[in-house]
Amino acid sequence: LLHCWDSSILILMHFSFITAAHQTIDDGQFGIQNGLNCVDSGWLTCQTEIRLRLHYSKVPPVSITKKKFKNSRFRIKLALEGIEEEEDDEEEGEPSPSSCHKMTPTLEISVISANGYKSRHSQPECGYGLDPSQWTEYSIHTMDPDNLELTFEFFEEDLSEHVVQGDAHPGHAGTACLLSSSFLEIGKDNGVATLPIMGRNSRQTIGKVRVDYLVIRPIQGLQCDMSSSFTKYWKKRGALNVGHRGAGSTHAAKIRENTIASFKSAANHGAAYVEFDVHLSKDDVPIVYHDLTCFIKSEMLYFLICFVCCSDLLDDEDEIDEHQPFPSLSQIFQAIPEHVGFNIELKWICQMRDGSWDGNLSSYFNMNKFLDIVLSCVLQKGGKRRIVFSCFDPDICTMVRQKQNRYPILFLTQGISDRYPELMDIRCQSTQIAISFAQSENILGISGHTEELLKNLSYIADAQSKGLVVFSWGEDNNDHENRRKLREQGIDGLIYDR
Ligand SMILES: *[C@@H]1O[C@H](CO)[C@@H](O)[C@H](O)[C@H]1NC(C)=O
Ligand SMILES: *[C@@H]1O[C@H](CO)[C@@H](O)[C@H](O)[C@H]1NC(C)=O
Repeated sequence: LLHCWDSSILILMHFSFITAAHQTIDDGQFGIQNGLNCVDSGWLTCQTEIRLRLHYSKVPPVSITKKKFKNSRFRIKLALEGIEEEEDDEEEGEPSPSSCHKMTPTLEISVISANGYKSRHSQPECGYGLDPSQWTEYSIHTMDPDNLELTFEFFEEDLSEHVVQGDAHPGHAGTACLLSSSFLEIGKDNGVATLPIMGRNSRQTIGKVRVDYLVIRPIQGLQCDMSSSFTKYWKKRGALNVGHRGAGSTHAAKIRENTIASFKSAANHGAAYVEFDVHLSKDDVPIVYHDLTCFIKSEMLYFLICFVCCSDLLDDEDEIDEHQPFPSLSQIFQAIPEHVGFNIELKWICQMRDGSWDGNLSSYFNMNKFLDIVLSCVLQKGGKRRIVFSCFDPDICTMVRQKQNRYPILFLTQGISDRYPELMDIRCQSTQIAISFAQSENILGISGHTEELLKNLSYIADAQSKGLVVFSWGEDNNDHENRRKLREQGIDGLIYDR
């Protein structure tokens, strides 16, 4: 039992039934079923998860100003401190109802690269070194997200020159401290904090460290239970046909894309699932539409959306105009028969390698708020429908996985592409690192870009051998021959037009 959060553990127990008196009881091994480890970390109930990441996506995370350490390579270890409790004068015995609030935070570290991933519940004595091709991430579970002191200790990797004789911490060069309360004060749940590294023996800084943070809060106003969970469940079958934006992009289809009519048409033509994009309107209503930039930028659209939302409120019972653009997510749930599955793409802004953002939007909604609104809508209206989320943003994928246990998510990846600009986040830069990311976060799988999958069809079998489900998307999927090739490789889902 790795995390001792009482209600958040999904325990898959191995029962052995005694069928005859003489049989010995096989207690099995906790969480092992048919040789597979089936213990899952569950979802966030009352605790908050803080992620701290060190990576080279934009610039090296550590930069040193002192000459003495100019050529040093560092290993980094994270330590947690919190408010020290007064001497406990409580009686021994039954844990009090508030004992949950006294649980000590847990810390886990994972390292992701194109070659694989590793996750650990402990760090080596002198921490881990950093590497430009690696993404290093610390995950902290805490009941008290605003009162943690997070301390990075820096150790020199090569001890030949500066070893202090008899030092209890050989190579220890400096410390940088981050207060989790600063996240609250900044008012953002994700961002970058640059911290000074204080030298060990002098009251001087030796450089700085750039920490990318993400705060994942439990979903507000909804509770998940263990009645059903599809986060890692997939029934193997032939390749699913997924209707892109309903029956397809406008230029390829006769019916306007992303409308109820388009979704119905796709279903009538045999699509098992329809794919569509969800945004939040300015007044926090989940709306189905494709283009993020256009959606946010155009005043004209804003009026339209207002109109759509208001009319939605006014005549919820009335017949919905099936060709109306910008249907709300709830209208879609209401209008499309339950046997049609939904592949819901959560739209989030991406940063390009050159530093620019989708449509020049460097800030968008608060991630927790955005997801709580969309997930609540889906969890409430989902019914018996099959639903798979997907997103190009790896953090959104992680958050969907941690906030609920009902629906799975696929990491959408463009890989190395001639058609789209390269992305900043190293987890988005190739299909291989996307596979490592999906494994590390224990999400359902990836939705790969056909352009890259066609260059190396073995990615599909490779990902599947790692327990991942693989969908594919992209213009190349509109070609019959390409779809045949992907089916032959055992692809799980094909997203295409018409
Ligand atoms: C983004 O902003 C820059 C400078 O403000 C401008 O030159 C550019 O055209 C903008 N791009 C878009 C897509 O709006
Ligand atoms: C194709 O992908 C497989 C699986 O990831 C990998 O082992 C192989 O090296 C790749 N081949 C090329 C030419 O990149």
